[in-house]
Amino acid sequence: MKALLTFLSITIALCWLANCKTADKTVLPPAPAATPDPIAADRTRYLDRLRKELAGKEKMQADSVFQNLKKLNKVPVGRLLNIMDRWGETLGVSCEHCHVPNEWASEVKQPKEITRQMMSLVERVNQDIQSIEAIKSERAGVSCYTCHHGEAKPARRPK
Ligand code: HEC
Ligand code: HEC
Repeated sequence: MKALLTFLSITIALCWLANCKTADKTVLPPAPAATPDPIAADRTRYLDRLRKELAGKEKMQADSVFQNLKKLNKVPVGRLLNIMDRWGETLGVSCEHCHVPNEWASEVKQPKEITRQMMSLVERVNQDIQSIEAIKSERAGVSCYTCHHGEAKPARRPK
């Protein structure tokens, strides 16, 4: 009982001291505003324009609308655009990293073709993983994000 009382009085004293110290700092600093991501905003700008142009065609097969597809031929138009945004997010880049803006079918930017080969790499790795019999997870596999984590050049070691 005595120990408890001692403990309580020490705690109260400490609280009082702490209050004294902070009494003149009652105004808290403003919470940091959510940092705007200019790269994401840039992607949204391009996507908004394309979504407007393609309104009503979202469910059409991509190769009936776009000119130069070798991988995403059969996905719906709306989904192709979502994949574009996701690739940008995954690599931390805007559309311009892989495309000449508004010339989406052009092949002059190398990362565009690299991306197709990366898709094949992901397919191969995911097939290989199936042959590791001891893995029991139903959805064991890798994606662009597994390696890229928001960077165009994935880190080889912890930073
Ligand atoms: C990491 C590279 C990469 C990024 C980033 C990227 N794209 Fe693509 N994009 C591609 C590839 C690769 C294809 C072709 C896919 C195929 O061959 O099936 C493509 C195809 C397209 C097409 C179809 C063009 C046609 O007519 O064949 C459009 C439209 C497009 N992208 C828009 C965008 C927009 C808008 C953004 C930004 C939000 C974007 N892309 C970001 C790689 C990228
Ligand atoms: C197994 C890991 C791995 C996976 C999975 C992977 N990548 Fe990569 N990617 C790399 C490496 C490593 C490089 C080479 C980076 C360098 O130049 O040092 C690279 C390079 C790239 C580049 C060229 C980078 C540049 O500087 O322009 C693009 C574009 C790219 N990857 C897109 C993708 C996309 C899209 C996917 C998913 C379809 C993907 N990658 C999946 C490891 C991976």
